[in-house]
Parts: sequence; C-alpha cells; structure tokens
Amino acid sequence: MIDLRSDTITRPTEAMLESMREASYGDDSRDGDETVMQLEALAAERTGKEAGAFMPSGTMTNLVAVLTHTQRGGEVLLEQGAHILNSELGGIASLSGSFHRGIAGTRGAMDLGQLRERIRPMTRNNFATALICMETTHNAAGGAVLPLAHMQAVHALAREHGVPVHTDGARLFNAAAALNVDAKTIAQHTDSVCFCVSKGLSAPVGSVLCGSAAFIERARAFRRLVGGNMRQAGPLAAAGIVALNTMVNRLKEDHATAQRLAAGLQRIDARLADPRDVETNLVRVDIGCSGRSAAQWSEALHGKGVRVSPASATTLRFVTHRHIGAADIDAAIAAVAACR
Ligand SMILES: Cc1ncc(COP(=O)(O)O)c(C=O)c1O
Repeated sequence: MIDLRSDTITRPTEAMLESMREASYGDDSRDGDETVMQLEALAAERTGKEAGAFMPSGTMTNLVAVLTHTQRGGEVLLEQGAHILNSELGGIASLSGSFHRGIAGTRGAMDLGQLRERIRPMTRNNFATALICMETTHNAAGGAVLPLAHMQAVHALAREHGVPVHTDGARLFNAAAALNVDAKTIAQHTDSVCFCVSKGLSAPVGSVLCGSAAFIERARAFRRLVGGNMRQAGPLAAAGIVALNTMVNRLKEDHATAQRLAAGLQRIDARLADPRDVETNLVRVDIGCSGRSAAQWSEALHGKGVRVSPASATTLRFVTHRHIGAADIDAAIAAVAACR
C-alpha cells in the first residue's frame, strides 16, 4: 500500500528506537525528566526562543498557546482556513472562552487590510483583540508557506497594538526548508510557535511549544490543566531529539516527490494539479472535473493500492514523506490515471 494520507504515518528510524531504549525515565510531571528537558532546550534553540514545553500533540500546543496568551472573552484573529479554527473542535472557544474572527486569506496569508480593520481595543461593546495566529506551512492552503515579509508585517501590526502573535508551525521545518532559512528566521516574527516532531520528522509522538521563559512557565500550568503533563516521557522526547538532529535536512526530498506527483497529475489533466501551487509536501488535487466525489476517488484509489485523504467534497490531499520514493509517486500517478 502506498500511503499518502499523511506524514504522521512515518515510522521512527533505527536511531530513534535506539535513543528511546537509552532514554531517561524521570517523572516529567513531578521533577522533570532529563531527556524531555534536553528536547525542550533544543527546540528553544532551533526556534530562537527562550524556552520550550513538550506536549503530546500539535492540537494541544495550539490550545495551550491560546489559553496562555488570552483571557476569557478575548478575540483571536486568524486566517479563516486555519487548522486551529477548522480542525481543532473549537477548543479556542469552548476551552479558552475566546471568540474567533476569521480573516480572509490568500494561500494562508491573512489580508493585512482586513486584519488591521479587525484589531480593536476593549470598549463597552467589544472585547479587545487578545491574540493573532498564523499558520505555516498552511495545511488547508495545500502546504503553502507564509512569506517572511508577510509574517513580519503581521507581527509589526500586532506589536503596534500590543497584541501577541502565535504561529502554528506544525510543519515549521518544511516551511524553513522551502524558504531555505532556519526555523528561527521564521520564528523571529512570532511571540510563540509550536512545531510537531510527529509529522514529516518521523518521531512517533509529540510537539513543542516555544516562547519566552515567562510564557512557557505559564504555559506549563495550562498544559497540566488540559491533561498534557506526561510522566515518563523521556523515550518520546529522545525520538524528538533524533528527529530534530537527523530528519530536518531531508524534508526537501519530500518536497521534490510532491513536485513529481503534481507534475505527473498535471500531465494527466491540467485541472488536477499545478506544480507551481506545491511549495512543500502537501498536494491538493482537484477532482471536481471528474463528476465523482473525493470519497469515491479515495475508495477507488484504495482499490489500486494508494491511500489518500479526501480534503473536501471535491479535493483529495496527497502528503509525501520519508517512506515515499519516486517509484511510489509514479505508481500513484498511474493509479489516478487508471481511476479516471
Ligand atoms: C497546521 C496543523 N496544525 C496543527 C495540527 C495538529 O497536530 P496533531 O495532529 O498533532 O494534534 C495539524 C495536524 O495535521 C496541522 O496540520
């Protein structure tokens, strides 16, 4: 089976398994664990922040960031296709008591004019803007990378109004690879940032939230509140350390296979995909022209040995990762051709 549903299916490397066997088994919820602290320090260093806190998932790092930055009733501004808004079950409202306002965007980048208009102070009739969130790479925008100039402009605008910025960087290192910069060059344009070691970086579990020392200290209390304190998390952190040390530089290979896929699909039918839209390892394929639904396509491709996720009624999402080589891509392209 050629599994293109997500980069989260990547299995740990031998070096990860080895490091997991040798990891410390401290109680991270009680006195802290040595390996977890090492991962947090490494994550902070890579993102250019003062501190980091290890958590079980990207969803939790985003939720904890919102809880830490905001207070009940605050407004959170974010691009309307944001993962936080559409795929995290409304935690932003139900758990943090914040209210979201979606901003129209292009390839995941918020319209700056609209963002400027929506930032507001507290009045008798409105709660103040409490937080602005960005997302890079942007999942719903097909793995699009926010331009650094955009991030800088959002951060400057937020600072002008005394509003903090959080960036959902679940695939931060893919964005860095696409921009040919290191992660801290991106993260300098945000007050807090999270990234996942569990996606293209191949570790089995975990995400790290990074920010100032004071922010992370407060975030640790919210992590506990939402049940995110892990006990003997050393082995998970150990795999995360190997992920950061050995898996970042190869992400460009996944971007190259995604390009190969988009080019092959375009050759079948130019309406399916355009390699110019593919910046990282996500390929959104528009099968609207076929008259069949994404669910039908996904089932038909499954029958040909290729697994993909429906992203909308008429869009499929293909995600490339470490276990996908050029031959798998060619087989996937052939399967799409056969299913037409
Ligand atoms: C942009 C983005 N943010 C957050 C998440 C959530 O991560 P997790 O699945 O670890 O909760 C994802 C997952 O795909 C994502 O793509």
